[in-house]
Amino acid sequence: MTHYRRFFTVPWKRSKMCIFLIGSICFVGIYFIFIPVTFNYFALIAKIKVKENIALNVMERFAFPIKGYDKPQTAKENRSNIFRFKPFLLNRKVEGPTANVAPFASELNDTQPFRFLINERDLCKDSTPFLVLLIATKADEKPLREAIRKTWGNESVIPGTKVIRLFMLGVNDKERNEAILKESNQYHDIIQQNFLDTYKNLTLKTIMGLKWVATYCAGANFVMKTDTDVFVNTEYLIQSLLRPLTPPSSYYFTGFLMRNAKPHRHIESKWYVPKEVYSSERYPDFCSGTGYVFSGNLVAKIINASLKVKFLYLEDVYVALCLEQEGINMVPPPNNYLFNIHKVPFSPCTYNSLITSHGIQSHEQIIYWEELQKNKHMCAK
Ligand SMILES: *[C@@H]1O[C@H](CO)[C@@H](O)[C@H](O)[C@H]1NC(C)=O
Ligand SMILES: *[C@@H]1O[C@H](CO)[C@@H](O)[C@H](O)[C@H]1NC(C)=O
Ligand SMILES: *[C@@H]1O[C@H](CO)[C@@H](O)[C@H](O)[C@H]1NC(C)=O
Ligand SMILES: *[C@@H]1O[C@H](CO)[C@@H](O)[C@H](O)[C@H]1NC(C)=O
Ligand SMILES: *[C@@H]1O[C@H](CO)[C@@H](O)[C@H](O)[C@H]1NC(C)=O
Repeated sequence: MTHYRRFFTVPWKRSKMCIFLIGSICFVGIYFIFIPVTFNYFALIAKIKVKENIALNVMERFAFPIKGYDKPQTAKENRSNIFRFKPFLLNRKVEGPTANVAPFASELNDTQPFRFLINERDLCKDSTPFLVLLIATKADEKPLREAIRKTWGNESVIPGTKVIRLFMLGVNDKERNEAILKESNQYHDIIQQNFLDTYKNLTLKTIMGLKWVATYCAGANFVMKTDTDVFVNTEYLIQSLLRPLTPPSSYYFTGFLMRNAKPHRHIESKWYVPKEVYSSERYPDFCSGTGYVFSGNLVAKIINASLKVKFLYLEDVYVALCLEQEGINMVPPPNNYLFNIHKVPFSPCTYNSLITSHGIQSHEQIIYWEELQKNKHMCAK
């Protein structure tokens, strides 16, 4: 025993030292591994907050124009606003995993096989419109459609300027479709094709609208694609943006311009796009689907290109890919506060000189519109 102990004592002390040293190194190592994990943790907190509807504040910080509605004063500020928007774009995930909800429609390489269930063939028969409003909607959004009909979607918003309003739908269940048929008979402002009405089929909806214009309304000067939760100041759009452009001598396409956006490779993102579906590391510049406007002569171009461009369910990116295929560039709007992808706090004079504001409910559509009509004459031009 003593022999052993003597043999053991000295090395044991050293062993303890060794163990301590190795332990310390491990600790430092684990600490450094922990840092990224901790960042993920913060990201998670941000996500939870988004879910709790503190979202708007967080998002508005990145979206442009920011709260308070400051116009950019310098070129540097202009640029930094675009940079500030980037993190928002890269992190715009919501509502948990969607990847397992539906298969990718990208496997559909043919976007043309659908037929109209509800059509309005004669809207442009007698005269060609100045502007066609293509509004993506879903069956259960009747209150929003009603609000839009009474407000910014009113076709006689500008006397002497022909505007056509069309709501675009896919199909859901049969029961809801009967209500839609009734609504269509009443207002004649709905078109519908027989594809399933899902988020991942939004591109089909846009293509349907474009095909409608190409087929039944080819002479339209301008087309705008937007959504039901967007407030559109059609008066400003027509009078201040589009009228000065006419007659359109060339191709025109504008909206909230997204530059250098990257595909989301994270499977939990609502905007998840795997490499097999879109391999490039960047999207082309595209205009947010909340509202983009273009000259009627682009409709056929986009449809043409869509026969060659691989399907992508992000309709705004898809349209940009079609334009890229045709060698057409989008242009930034005359100023950065016209097209907004967030909800701009309401005041009559702010809304008097913007074109889109996003995240608007049906009662807000009405209140904002009425307040705007009542007060717009008091705003500085
Ligand atoms: C900021 O951008 C807008 C729109 O692109 C432009 O009209 C304006 O001149 C720019 N401001 C400066 C100071 O560069
Ligand atoms: C769709 O893809 C299949 C297989 O790659 C091909 O045979 C077919 O011609 C494509 N259809 C269209 C419309 O491009
Ligand atoms: C649309 O606007 C016209 C002219 O201002 C008005 O007479 C009409 O009642 C409006 N339509 C709806 C549905 O509000
Ligand atoms: C898109 O619509 C087609 C035709 O109705 C349907 O087969 C497909 O499942 C839909 N795709 C998605 C992703 O919902
Ligand atoms: C669409 O494509 C066809 C066939 O490639 C071509 O003849 C036509 O001019 C194109 N239309 C437009 C508007 O580019």
